[in-house]
Amino acid sequence: MSKTSRIPGFYKLSPEERLKTVAEFAGLTQEEADLLKRFGGLDEKTADKMIENVVGAFQLPLGIAVNFLINGKDYLIPMAIEESSVVAAASNAARMAREGGGVFAVSTESLMIGQVQILGVKDPYRAKFEILRNKQEVLELANERDPVLVGVGGGAKDIEVNVVNSKVGPMVVVHLIVDVKDAMGANAVNTMAEAVAPRLASIAGGRFRLRIISNLADKRLVRVWTRVPPEEVGGPGVAEGIVEAWAFADADPYRAATHNKGIMNGVDAVVIATGNDWRAVEAGAHAYAARNGRYEPLSRWELDERGYLVGTLEMPLAVGIVGGATRSNPLARICLKILGVKTARELAEVIGAVGLVQNLAALRALAAEGIQAGHMKLHRRKFEPEAKA
Ligand code: MEV
Repeated sequence: MSKTSRIPGFYKLSPEERLKTVAEFAGLTQEEADLLKRFGGLDEKTADKMIENVVGAFQLPLGIAVNFLINGKDYLIPMAIEESSVVAAASNAARMAREGGGVFAVSTESLMIGQVQILGVKDPYRAKFEILRNKQEVLELANERDPVLVGVGGGAKDIEVNVVNSKVGPMVVVHLIVDVKDAMGANAVNTMAEAVAPRLASIAGGRFRLRIISNLADKRLVRVWTRVPPEEVGGPGVAEGIVEAWAFADADPYRAATHNKGIMNGVDAVVIATGNDWRAVEAGAHAYAARNGRYEPLSRWELDERGYLVGTLEMPLAVGIVGGATRSNPLARICLKILGVKTARELAEVIGAVGLVQNLAALRALAAEGIQAGHMKLHRRKFEPEAKA
């Protein structure tokens, strides 16, 4: 079987036939396929190790979005989500984007920020200077805590210092910049922040309090781009409508919140399927959307000189492929195998691409037939059998 994700009529197959197609595409073992077929891969022992006070396992449907072409590579996208039509909409819009050459994505290094709060400093600007002057020593102290990460080229790389005026007086806030490579990074960053805090406080002549990662991961960004022929979305009128929909979100935070919710429909579904921390990704996305002092859309849509629809998206994506539930949850391991991603950056690029495509699907439906006729049709069919959808 050829490795294409363009699978017309995938939705018409039975779950078993779909699983067979996915298993062939991803080279799943019989054991892995059987686990998916069971509709619930978390046994009592595994769940009990993951969190406290376990009494059961809570399930979400896992669907596969087809047709995705990202950076010239075909992907089948596992999506864990309770909302109907999201997977269908993603597959449909991925087919449209495919006609224009697919989606392209780039990412920065996996740089996360650990914050150390220092209080009671009489001369905070002198303290800032002194901390920066002793940067090398502090970085070495941090890196002693994670030789494994340092061994693969990661670790604490830099320090930034801000003097922050607060309700309890000025604070010196140190940012430890850590390359976490293929991890989400919270564990490594928190350990390092705790390790360097006493030394930072003594250099500053104050006392430390909080030592914790920042979820505003604005040094760990993905940037995504796609170009869609207008006939794919229903003609130049609909393409223009999509740009008008974006302009609405750009001008009005009430609309921007919903616009970004549509992006997160796609983003979260893959973040959850791969066992990643979706609260961290959500917090980062919305803080980033508000970084200019006003809540803004994470994507943009414009028309190029040929009338093609051009979409771009930029957002932080702190996701990993090692550690945490990405490894301990067997279903997350299978989803990562279906995706076939080799690095956390590749995973982030794929997730960003899904976010932009999901946004295209929503804006197209809103600009054309309206959400109730399109997007919500399946929902009505499923939950209100009497509805004439
Ligand atoms: C529904 O889950 C998501 C949408 O509201 C997104 C949007 O309005 O752009 C359709």
